[in-house]
Amino acid sequence: MKVLGIESSCDETAAAVVEDGRTIISNVIATQIPFHQIYSGVVPELASRKHAEWILPVVRNALDEAHLTLNDIDAIAATNRPGLMGSLLVGLTFGKTLAWTLNKPFIAVNHMLGHMYAAHLANDIEYPYLGLLVSGGHSIICRVNDFDDIEVLGTTIDDAAGEAFDKVAKFYNLGYPGGVIIDNLAKKGNPAAAHFPMPTLKGDDHRYDVSYSGLKTAVINQLDQFWNPDYEKTNENIAAAFQETAVRILLSRLFRAVEDTGLTTVVAGGGVAANSRLRSMLAEHSEIKCIFPPLKLCTDNGAMIAGVGYHYLKRGETSPITTTASARIPAFRRGLARKR
Ligand code: KG4
Ligand code: ZN
Repeated sequence: MKVLGIESSCDETAAAVVEDGRTIISNVIATQIPFHQIYSGVVPELASRKHAEWILPVVRNALDEAHLTLNDIDAIAATNRPGLMGSLLVGLTFGKTLAWTLNKPFIAVNHMLGHMYAAHLANDIEYPYLGLLVSGGHSIICRVNDFDDIEVLGTTIDDAAGEAFDKVAKFYNLGYPGGVIIDNLAKKGNPAAAHFPMPTLKGDDHRYDVSYSGLKTAVINQLDQFWNPDYEKTNENIAAAFQETAVRILLSRLFRAVEDTGLTTVVAGGGVAANSRLRSMLAEHSEIKCIFPPLKLCTDNGAMIAGVGYHYLKRGETSPITTTASARIPAFRRGLARKR
């Protein structure tokens, strides 16, 4: 079964054709980053306008690259939440309209289920496992029982991991989006140049939760804590020291979850899963089998949406044409996130 997946939740207009939830036949991603860069962040109105302009050529390219026509597609899947409302509506409405006019099944997909599924597009992975969902909007440690059955164990109590990278980069005028820029700068810096604080979240309620606002504030305001008299306050050192702590925060909670649940397979997803230090630090732990999506599938893409769409379709679960978009996913705060 060939599913056309459409993704427009933030600043990437993307479409892909995936066969049987595994084989990526085409994967087109039109990034709006150059348009938002001068504002050091995504401008929602600009994003929706670009999506509206690009959605048709992007979907057409995805079909052309796959050497297919719309008639060859078995179903259409589109992200319906979470994300920027105006942006979501463009891809969702486009997908629903296509499905309705072609009389094909339509499937609405939760963007975070898409990120969790991305690694499955390149690996055989058995459930259950521990998920590490780290993006610009979410930092989630979860038990994943199925492609649509995610039990949130911990989340951020303030900023998401990617958001912290972006905000630190913005403060130091390093560019947007901050994650990949800090990752690259950090390779040339000294991670031990500064000691930034780890969050001290206490209590069982916060056992797997993370926090980034303290680290962000420390990096932005307390550079005088750099202890080394030979310390050089360079962007490279700031990036390396910040990144080191940002990754340690995630891993401290993840390792706790591994110990408590006995699950030793960890699957990562989301833009921050592209981080080279996160990957190298996890690789040092041979007791954990860690699976990352290929770099191109860490950030937003249509293939992950098509992949999830296929599994709903296989179960005979489709979405009504009245399905709406939603900016948030309250079910992801804690507990089971089974519903779309
Ligand atoms: O998953 P994604 O494309 O969009 C959301 O769903 O949010 O993630 C984007 C986030 C941004 O905050 C970006 O700075 C971060 O992922 N990111 C990274 C890296 N590449 C992207 N963060 C750390 N290291 C990277 N290499
Ligand atoms: Zn995303």
